[in-house]
Amino acid sequence: MLSSSCTAAVRGLSTTAQLSKINNVTIIGAGLMGSGIAQVSANAKLNVTVVDSNQSALEKAQKGIASSLQRVAKKKHADDSAAQSALVSSVLDRIKMSTNVSDSVKDADLVIEAIVENIDIKRKLFAEVEAAAKPTTLITTNTSSLRLADIGLNLKDKTRFGGLHFFNPVPMMKLLEVVRHDDTSDATFEQLIEYGKTVGKTTVACKDTPGFIVNRLLVPYMFEALRMYERGDASMPDIDVAMKLGAGYPMGPFELSDYVGLDTCKFIMDGWHKQYPDEVAFKPSPLLDSLVDAGKTGRKSGEGFYKYK
Ligand code: 3HC
Repeated sequence: MLSSSCTAAVRGLSTTAQLSKINNVTIIGAGLMGSGIAQVSANAKLNVTVVDSNQSALEKAQKGIASSLQRVAKKKHADDSAAQSALVSSVLDRIKMSTNVSDSVKDADLVIEAIVENIDIKRKLFAEVEAAAKPTTLITTNTSSLRLADIGLNLKDKTRFGGLHFFNPVPMMKLLEVVRHDDTSDATFEQLIEYGKTVGKTTVACKDTPGFIVNRLLVPYMFEALRMYERGDASMPDIDVAMKLGAGYPMGPFELSDYVGLDTCKFIMDGWHKQYPDEVAFKPSPLLDSLVDAGKTGRKSGEGFYKYK
């Protein structure tokens, strides 16, 4: 008879053997994060399909990926325009665009969801994905603030479900948070770590807690800066300069909030505040709320805390 640790090891091995190697990645959601994930996956020679219900979002994503690739290529092959073009087209050639979820996940080894942070829409999408995908497909979410246990509630097989949390701008940020919830299998988790390495990221393991590691620290910090400004303790530019020069951050908290999107910041905080009303670090900001209400969502809208051309 096998000892319990031995049995677990054998079980772990057989589960790993059942899971296929990741060659085909389907990314659902053609926004900034979805585009970035597609870019780094295709750059790692994986076959990528980007899905979005909105054709114009797909066209915008295609253009965004091409322009980001051009920046990467320019850096890599400074004086060689032929090599730059070759790099851009070789990566773009590996990315297909589609508006059909079921068709696009049929052959996927890994599905990464990067759509709007709405639990009902995500649950509906995951039901469609699970029904159409292979029984070995890994199903993941790039959620920045929702609990995996809630998103994946209705999945029939939760062992193949996990979190892959990327950072904006995806091609530049070196980190990938790999999130496991209570039912994520060891084999799934290991494959997600492996995928992270394949796309050139340093991975960290996270539990299914609000904001995982980075956002749990970063988002309250951004809101603390807002509270500091709202109290009149310092100006926005001074707070930004202080954190860049005094703490070595590449962007100050207001610049970063504009970069991430004020609507995203608000969404994250509102969700946590609802779930943990007594947590002072999760208190919403009236100033942020009023900017979002006015459509000033940061860089993408041309104005947030600052104005952009
Ligand atoms: N694609 C490709 N290359 C890019 C790029 C992109 N999207 N953005 C920047 N680069 C590269 C280019 O080579 C660029 O040179 P170029 O302008 O000649 O093409 C070079 O980086 C320098 O870029 P910039 O001159 O624009 O400015 P910086 O040197 O400040 O770098 C930055 C930009 C990498 C964005 C840096 O400011 C930074 O690291 N900021 C902090 C970002 C951050 O904290 N992100 C995490 C947010 S939280 C999150 O995403 C979680 C979510 O759940 C909310």
